Amino acid sequence: MTATLEVILTPAEFGPLRERDLSQTVCVVFDILRATTTMITALANGADSIIPVEQIGEALEVRRQRPNVLLAGERDGVRIRANQTGGIEFDLGNSPREFSTEKVQGKTIVMTTTNGTRALRACATAKTVLIGSFLNLRATANWLRENKPQHLILVCSGTYEQASFEDMLAAGAVCERVWPNYAGGTVADSAEIARRIYPLMQSNLLDAMKQSRNGRRLLAMPGLREDVWFSVQRETVSFTAQMNKEGIVRKSGLNTATPDSLL
Ligand code: MLT
Repeated sequence: MTATLEVILTPAEFGPLRERDLSQTVCVVFDILRATTTMITALANGADSIIPVEQIGEALEVRRQRPNVLLAGERDGVRIRANQTGGIEFDLGNSPREFSTEKVQGKTIVMTTTNGTRALRACATAKTVLIGSFLNLRATANWLRENKPQHLILVCSGTYEQASFEDMLAAGAVCERVWPNYAGGTVADSAEIARRIYPLMQSNLLDAMKQSRNGRRLLAMPGLREDVWFSVQRETVSFTAQMNKEGIVRKSGLNTATPDSLL
């Protein structure tokens, strides 16, 4: 059977993705600004696990059943507030810089964001779901090169209902690194596009972020602008992370014995 490589570029494709048989497919989900970057940071700083959910109500329900979990997430880029939940303040927003060791060590974090957690849930039935970011790009690419999934889908979370530059660049970086495994197989145009765009921007990802919709939004918010710089750092952590069949994200892959620490 031939190997297949595809990139999901827009949230419009999440619905069809949910309907597909993904039982033999590995998905890597990217929400560079910022959900998957934040998840990797939380795990690097000692969080036990993350439960991504789509709706605020689902997060509140998990908290009701497990009062010790932290609630994290955003709407329109900012932390979810009591007036959006019927009175409960979220503990954290979606800024990776908030997820310090002090706050997250040993904790389970329930997280809901506009696109990132939606993209993850759309892949829930996949054989393996990896959490992608620039922070752990090498670890993720190495995992893919070693495990050689026959069917690989790189899922860009996008911004609201549109494609996002930053997620496409991260998908392109992975395409470039795993290309030899798929070039002889069936490569979707979306993967070809992503692979060709990344080399044009790789030497100045920060500049690329200034051209992206969410990058511009975050840069315009004084308290969040540094998230953009933080999120384009490459290879700062050495582990992969996976969402398991119960929908729980944990560290996985190589080098998990050595705790990485960010911030
Ligand atoms: C999202 O999930 O849509 C993003 O992570 C938005 C953000 O907080 O920057």
